[in-house]
Amino acid sequence: MEVHAVTDLMTAAVLERFGGPGEFKLTRIPRPTRINDELLIEIHAAGVNPLDAKTRVGQGVSAAVDSLPTVLGHDFSGVVVESPYDAHPLQPGDAVYGFIPVPRYSGSYAGYASVPSLCVAPKPVGLSHTEAAAVPVAALTAWGVVTTVAKAHERQRILIHAAAGGVGHFAVQFAAYFGAHVIATASTRNLEWVRSLGARETIDHTTHHFEDELEDVDVVIDLVGNLTHQVATKSLKVLRKNGLIVSVPSGSWPTMHEEAAAAGVRATGYRVTPDAATLAVISRLLEQGSVRPHIDEIFPLRDVSAAHERIETGHVRGKLVLDTTVLP
Ligand SMILES: NC(=O)c1ccc[n+]([C@@H]2O[C@H](COP(=O)([O-])OP(=O)(O)OC[C@H]3O[C@@H](n4cnc5c(N)ncnc54)[C@H](OP(=O)(O)O)[C@@H]3O)[C@@H](O)[C@H]2O)c1
Repeated sequence: MEVHAVTDLMTAAVLERFGGPGEFKLTRIPRPTRINDELLIEIHAAGVNPLDAKTRVGQGVSAAVDSLPTVLGHDFSGVVVESPYDAHPLQPGDAVYGFIPVPRYSGSYAGYASVPSLCVAPKPVGLSHTEAAAVPVAALTAWGVVTTVAKAHERQRILIHAAAGGVGHFAVQFAAYFGAHVIATASTRNLEWVRSLGARETIDHTTHHFEDELEDVDVVIDLVGNLTHQVATKSLKVLRKNGLIVSVPSGSWPTMHEEAAAAGVRATGYRVTPDAATLAVISRLLEQGSVRPHIDEIFPLRDVSAAHERIETGHVRGKLVLDTTVLP
C-alpha cells in the first residue's frame, strides 16, 4: 500500500466559533504531532455524528474545548503514517479505523489525526474507508447498550426507538444476531428496511402511538429521548414489571430515575467510550457479513456544513460520512 509523504500542514474543516453549520472553514493548519503511544493517521474518511453537531453549537463535549478554532470529528478510517515503536502491531501503511476522544485530541474532519493506540483497530477487510468511518461511535454505542447493558438473548423482547438511525441500525442488527425479538420504531419509508436488518415487528412513529400497541417489553433502547414527543416517559408504560429502559441521548431525561421507580422498572443512561478491542470484535461481524453499515450520503470535506444541516434533520437513514480525500 502506498504511504503518502508527511507534510507539516494539512487541510482541515476547522470550527472557528460555536454556532450554526456555516461556522466551519476549510483551511490549512499544522498537522498534529504524534507523541507517546499515539499513531499518526492519514484520514481518508470521517463519520458524522449528532454529538458533533451538539458540540458545534456549544453543547455536547464543547465544555472541554480549550480554545477555538478546533477540529471536530470522532469517527475515522485511514492509513497509519507513524507508529510508536517498531514492534507495535499497527505499522505505517496499515489501514485502520477508530474513535478519537475529541476534544481532548484533534478530530477527524482533517487530513491527519494523532490518536491513542487504544482507540485504533485494523480496518475490517472488505469495507471501504467510507464504510469503515461509518462504524465506530454508532456501532460501539449499539454494542454497549445491546450486549453489555441489555444482555440481548433469545426470547427477550427489545424495543428500539430510532431503529433507522446511526446507532439504531447497528442496535437492530446486534440484538437480532443474539436472538432477541426486536421491535423497532421508524417512519413509514424506513419500516421495510429495518425489517431487512432483523426487526421482527415495526411501528410507524408517524402514524401510530407505540405506547398504545405494546406491553410486557423486557428492554427499551431509547435513542430518541424525552425532548421529542416524551418518547422516554411514554416508554415506561410498555415495559414489564422490573423491565429496563436504556436512555441513550445524554441529558434528555433529568427525571429518569424518579419516573422509572414510580413505574416499577429499572432505568440507566449510557456513555460510549473509544475501545479498539470491542471494535475488533465488531470487525469480525462486519467481515463475516453478519452486520453491515448503511451510508445514507457521502459528502466531500468541503461540504461539511451541508452534512451538519442533514444530521440536524434527525432523519438520516444509517450514517453520513465525509470523504477527506476530495479536496478543493
Ligand atoms: N450517550 C452516548 O454515548 C451516545 C452515543 C451515540 C449517540 N448518542 C445519542 O443518541 C441519539 C441517537 O444517535 P444516532 O447517531 O442514532 O442519531 P441519528 O442517526 O441522527 O438518528 C436519526 C434517526 O432517528 C429516527 N427518529 C427521529 N425521530 C424519531 C421518533 N420520534 N421515533 C422513532 N425514530 C425517530 C429517524 O428515523 P425516521 O427518519 O424513520 O423517523 C432517523 O433514522 C442522539 O441523540 C445521539 O446524540 C449518545
